[in-house]
Amino acid sequence: MCGIVGYIGLKDAYPIVIKGLKRLEYRGYDSAGIALFDGNNLEVTKTKGKVADLERVALEKNSKKGSIGIGHTRWATHGVPNDVNSHPHYSNSENLVIIHNGIIENYEPLKKELVARGYEFKSDTDTEVLINLIEDVQINEKVSLEKSVQIALNQTIGAYAIAVFDKRQEDELIVARLGSPLAIGVGENEFFIASDASPFIEYTSDAIYLEDGEMAKISLNEGVVVSKIKDGVAVDPYIQKLKINLEQIEKGGFDHFMLKEIYEQPHAITDTYRGRLLANEGVIKMAGIDDNIDKFLNAKRIIIVACGTSWHAGLVAEYIFEEFSRIPVEVEYASEFRYRNPIINKDDILIAISQSGETADTMAAIKLAKQRGAFVFGVCNVVGSSISRESHAGAYTHAGPEIGVASTKAFTTQITVLALMALRIAKQKGSIANSQYHYLLHEMEQIPSKVEKVLEQNDTIEKVAEAYKDSDNCLYLGRGFNFPVALEGALKLKEISYIHAEGYPAAEMKHGPIALIDEQMPVVVIATKKGHYEKVVSNIQEIKSRKGKVIGVVTEGDITVKELADHVIEVPETLEPFTPLLTTIPLQLLSYHIAVKLGKNVDQPRNLAKSVTVE
Ligand code: F6R
Repeated sequence: MCGIVGYIGLKDAYPIVIKGLKRLEYRGYDSAGIALFDGNNLEVTKTKGKVADLERVALEKNSKKGSIGIGHTRWATHGVPNDVNSHPHYSNSENLVIIHNGIIENYEPLKKELVARGYEFKSDTDTEVLINLIEDVQINEKVSLEKSVQIALNQTIGAYAIAVFDKRQEDELIVARLGSPLAIGVGENEFFIASDASPFIEYTSDAIYLEDGEMAKISLNEGVVVSKIKDGVAVDPYIQKLKINLEQIEKGGFDHFMLKEIYEQPHAITDTYRGRLLANEGVIKMAGIDDNIDKFLNAKRIIIVACGTSWHAGLVAEYIFEEFSRIPVEVEYASEFRYRNPIINKDDILIAISQSGETADTMAAIKLAKQRGAFVFGVCNVVGSSISRESHAGAYTHAGPEIGVASTKAFTTQITVLALMALRIAKQKGSIANSQYHYLLHEMEQIPSKVEKVLEQNDTIEKVAEAYKDSDNCLYLGRGFNFPVALEGALKLKEISYIHAEGYPAAEMKHGPIALIDEQMPVVVIATKKGHYEKVVSNIQEIKSRKGKVIGVVTEGDITVKELADHVIEVPETLEPFTPLLTTIPLQLLSYHIAVKLGKNVDQPRNLAKSVTVE
């Protein structure tokens, strides 16, 4: 939530910060702003709207000068999205300026104290409180900007990634993080800061990822000086070599990131199992599991926590783990798990699934499980993310950067990793027959080419989208391994086209949702050959006898459903546990085409943000 970018160096900061903000717009896009310092003036330009709107305002004001700049793209938490609540925020003296991603929870009492001391506030934000608190410390304690930031942050409760600039200390930028990500790009005679490394990968491949509770003074003279927020003790920064490249974060000829990412799935799945799956040798190598195999073998229970699409991947994993590893699995919304009083035992394993690795609720669930002695295994996509660091062990998904707000390749690669984990454990445990194990390993190698075949049906799917784009509602049904796919299909449609959609286990339809069926109701039914096929066919008949419209996702060559359904989309045959990797693809494309036809902003749907770092 919210993207922050900054530059300090010898070049013009404006184009660097603006381009960086565009790359971070997936994090929030209801308002944007930039502060530039040209050696004399510190000028803030900000507006409600997207970074493109900010560019227009900056052009009108002709305010693009300076070799120090900080910028922000916002996902509103405190105060509605408007010009005034947009970041950056000045302090009362207008000497200091701040950008902030996160929430200062105790901003109200802090604000009251500051008001009592004569401070005035223009915005409704917690951020304006923080910058004035820093100014207040600076004035009263007569300490450096760095020290003032440290003292002020120690008075706050909440989460933040911030960058602060003082026009009287024109050679330095102070940054700090607690609970929200912050990367520093280290170039030659220039430094960058950003919520992730994408804004600076064309300038440098050296990055420092601040740890929670760390701050840094960044200056051209001294470089990056990292210290602990708590006590100011110096920390040796670790400079990491970045592996992402520019191509990965650009659209590469596709109209939208979402479409590009849907089409990247064959590669992303291959990248995810490459080096891990040695089908001919009958081996799965996963360091995170290999090193902790006893814990998995002795686990009484696996608890999976995640949110949104990652939670759906967790549900698929529940079926796969229970089927093969024979370990009881519970799948929980991280936000619910953390706020009840869950029973967690020392021999429980908590698997946290998160594309971004920054989701606040998932992070909090991990901390709770760790406090209660559970072993925590993270399945994340973003390398070096907070959740991957907080976990005892883990496995990355290697999907590459996912920029479209609607998750696509993250889902299929999460299922890939989780399936590999389940099979690796099952083999060691002896809970899977040898022949079945080998069969599954070889079949997994076929999945990418089968996904390619599903993608070839894009034109058919686009026609289905045309037929149903004006629907107000849509039902998704699936059974077994494909029940979570029904949920995921419904979520995809809701979030990018704003059409109301519900996912159900197909057999549940008769317990209520069937009342919704009439000639206006499209029902997407996942009816692949394996997995209670006959029962699902009966469900389709029930829908048709109530005049509902059926879009069947079927196995290649299916005749029965073809005769009953209004439309069918075929997927190649595969082993049942892997069907979600194929049946998900048409549902992603269907949502995509409907949203495009409705003229919606596919990559940046309203009210959403890619990385949900608030609770
Ligand atoms: C849906 C979507 C969200 C995320 C959820 C969790 O398309 O993207 O539902 O899946 O916010 O995010 P991560 O996986 O980053 O923890």
